[in-house]
Amino acid sequence: MEEKLLEVKDLSVAFNSYLGVAEVLDRISYSVDENQWLGIAGESGCGKTVSAFSLLKLLPEAAMIRNGEILFKGESILDKSEREMRKLRGGEISIVFQEPQSALNPSKRVGENIVESLRLHQGIRGEEAKRRAIQMLDLVKIPQPRVRFSQFPHELSGGMQQRVCIAIALACHPSLLIADEFTTSLDVTTQQEILKLVVDLQRQSTMSVLFITHDLALISECCDELIIMYAGQIMERGKVDRVFRNPSHPYTRLLLNAIPSISRKDEKLNSIDGSVPGLVNPPKGCRFHTRCKQKIPGRCDVVFPRETAIDETHRAWCHLLYT
Ligand SMILES: Nc1ncnc2c1ncn2[C@@H]1O[C@H](COP(=O)(O)OP(=O)(O)OP(=O)(O)O)[C@@H](O)[C@H]1O
Ligand SMILES: [Mg+2]
Repeated sequence: MEEKLLEVKDLSVAFNSYLGVAEVLDRISYSVDENQWLGIAGESGCGKTVSAFSLLKLLPEAAMIRNGEILFKGESILDKSEREMRKLRGGEISIVFQEPQSALNPSKRVGENIVESLRLHQGIRGEEAKRRAIQMLDLVKIPQPRVRFSQFPHELSGGMQQRVCIAIALACHPSLLIADEFTTSLDVTTQQEILKLVVDLQRQSTMSVLFITHDLALISECCDELIIMYAGQIMERGKVDRVFRNPSHPYTRLLLNAIPSISRKDEKLNSIDGSVPGLVNPPKGCRFHTRCKQKIPGRCDVVFPRETAIDETHRAWCHLLYT
């Protein structure tokens, strides 16, 4: 049995906003094994990024962790000091975001961006840092790494900039890479190249990847397991092939039905009616009930369903499964 790298238990996060208190994460639990790719999917506003930021203790001041714990290699993240977290971020846990432009310091050359991370997290300086940075640029398949080292980020294309961000994220050999919509801003071809790059690099290391995306097709290409989130709650989780073959939650079925490549040709693509509800006074019970065509009144809108085991790793939270 592989060791759990990360365990999130019953995590609830709320935000103070001008409309009131938004209940953004509602008792979410999941774990990441060593060497595993875990996908987190769900529509915009479901809490994917908030859940990633919680792992790094990078939540804005308005956020309150209401409940739960986060264990990384058995140690409580929430109990760590800011100093300890600074060592962990970019060291043991790295993150790559959607917009490479905002992650890179535009006034520093590409190489300096990487060197800075090496100095901060590994204490590597001078010629050795430069050598390692060029090695990293080469690893992420940037042509002419020595030339690119001395260029500014704006001289690189979006895809190349994202490769630099990946180089920075991997420079300190993290145990966990959080990839938050990291291919979304790229064109489809570049998206595929970047994804393949990270898949290859992950295979060469002992790194786990938390892959956050609204794109289930991408998850099916690289993840071992996935979690389906809706409005701050987990609806379903399990091995990707099992969930795709036997989606057990109505929300998962709707999401899968919205993927062009796996919908049947003669079947019209269905977008999901309605939108994710506001999270100040969110819907009671299962938050999806306001959009669910199979809702059981008096039940789905009253209490959150208990966990149903579909198979040994596949779980879903839906009243329809046991009513
Ligand atoms: N600083 C904040 N203050 C108040 N509410 C916030 C803040 N940041 C996020 N939220 C709320 O938290 C909820 C979850 O947001 P989050 O960014 O995690 O969604 P997401 O699933 O990552 O969406 P997307 O696919 O668009 O990236 C949203 O309702 C959002 O409005
Ligand atoms: Mg997000």
